[in-house]
Amino acid sequence: STIVNCEPLKELIRTVPDFPKPGILFYDITTLLKNKAGMAQLIDAFAAYYIDKEIDLVLGIEARGFIFGPALAYRLNAGFVPVRKPKKLPAPTAKVTYDLEYGSDALEIHLDAIEPGQRVVIVDDLLATGGTMQATVKLVRQLGGEIAGIGFAIELDFLKGRAKFQEYDVFSLLHYD
Ligand code: PRP
Repeated sequence: STIVNCEPLKELIRTVPDFPKPGILFYDITTLLKNKAGMAQLIDAFAAYYIDKEIDLVLGIEARGFIFGPALAYRLNAGFVPVRKPKKLPAPTAKVTYDLEYGSDALEIHLDAIEPGQRVVIVDDLLATGGTMQATVKLVRQLGGEIAGIGFAIELDFLKGRAKFQEYDVFSLLHYD
């Protein structure tokens, strides 16, 4: 695939200390998304990576995977599927519960969202521990989808979330250590 140097996009990402909790440095992509050239480069870079991979569906994880997932799907001539927090989807769903630092969370997908064998790329804004993506991987596997790729705008390398996805193609535009 085409190699695109995305490093300059870091200039457009805002860091917010102590959000949402003390000690967390939040990487805010809204400042990138609102920038005309930044938005184009973000989607171009993902599209360049996935364009030759015969993707049927882009799955976006609520909430920030919804922001750029559909733009990527359009560019790939693929469909878009939302993976949502519990009780948001109206039709029958598959559900996966996963552990957080304190307590647990869950994600759902419509049972008919993926046909067995369809080639899926899952996207989210950020890879931290990887728990959210791991739950989504389980949902895709339950429905019989083939995971052709896992894509993030930002990867926090020091959290080593990537280790959870050794059998998959993990692609992150920007890395922080
Ligand atoms: C953030 C981010 C990812 C997830 C990454 O979402 O958008 O979805 O955390 O963390 P992990 O790799 O440790 O699972 P958040 O929990 O803030 O939910 P939101 O997108 O609904 O605000």
